[in-house]
Amino acid sequence: MRRPVIAGNWKMYKLVNESVEYVQAFKALVVQSIHCDIVIAPTFTALKAVCSKLEGSNIAVSSQDVAAEPGFGAFTGEVSAEMVRDAGAGYAILGHSERRQYYGETDGSVNRKLLSAMGAGLVPIVCVGESLTERDSGQAQTVVERQLSGSLANLTPERASRIIIAYEPVWAIGTGRTATPEIAQQMHAFIRSRLKAMFGEEVAQSVRILYGGSVKPENITSLMDELDIDGALVGGSSLDPVSFSNIVNYRDRR
Ligand code: PGA
Repeated sequence: MRRPVIAGNWKMYKLVNESVEYVQAFKALVVQSIHCDIVIAPTFTALKAVCSKLEGSNIAVSSQDVAAEPGFGAFTGEVSAEMVRDAGAGYAILGHSERRQYYGETDGSVNRKLLSAMGAGLVPIVCVGESLTERDSGQAQTVVERQLSGSLANLTPERASRIIIAYEPVWAIGTGRTATPEIAQQMHAFIRSRLKAMFGEEVAQSVRILYGGSVKPENITSLMDELDIDGALVGGSSLDPVSFSNIVNYRDRR
């Protein structure tokens, strides 16, 4: 049995005081939600304050990126995985499509970040997903397969078993256009088959694969009903504590 993960990606939203106010309200709304791992990814500047507020709670914290270089060094503007860990976070989102699209992130840089994150003891949430043009031209699986083999290179099966994958079709992010549960399930099953080819059956069965792209309280339940969907990475609908708690508590919505 894979334990579900519901993660909220705040992107470039919320000042420090807004972040703290949010988690204060949110904590009370999910205090009994023990059926899944709950993760929140604030901006770098709010990480420490959010982690302090959530200490001892059932909510973990993630960064939205880490530097490719581990530890410390002359890399102006970068924040290393060790620093993220030091702030109290346990996860790092890597290779989000917005980083691939606007900041030149490649499978190679995602792979270096992945190794740095794992070296620092963070659980990486590695994002993959095709664009609309790629899907329309029948390239969706080829693209995702390439992203997986590049981003997950040089991983031992033992390390691979601890990562989380997020399948986020670019055409579904922030567009209100969710992939149907069937389309998502099909790709999740494909991702699991690739994980099996790369790392073996046991690893493939243990890795959690999250769906991301316009997840809302209204569609989370049908997505979670699918065999290979183990959770969600939520953008817009994670910005409000009530809406995000309704997603976390998807089982109450049946
Ligand atoms: P969305 O974003 O839920 O706003 O579509 C998802 C994501 O980018 O992780």
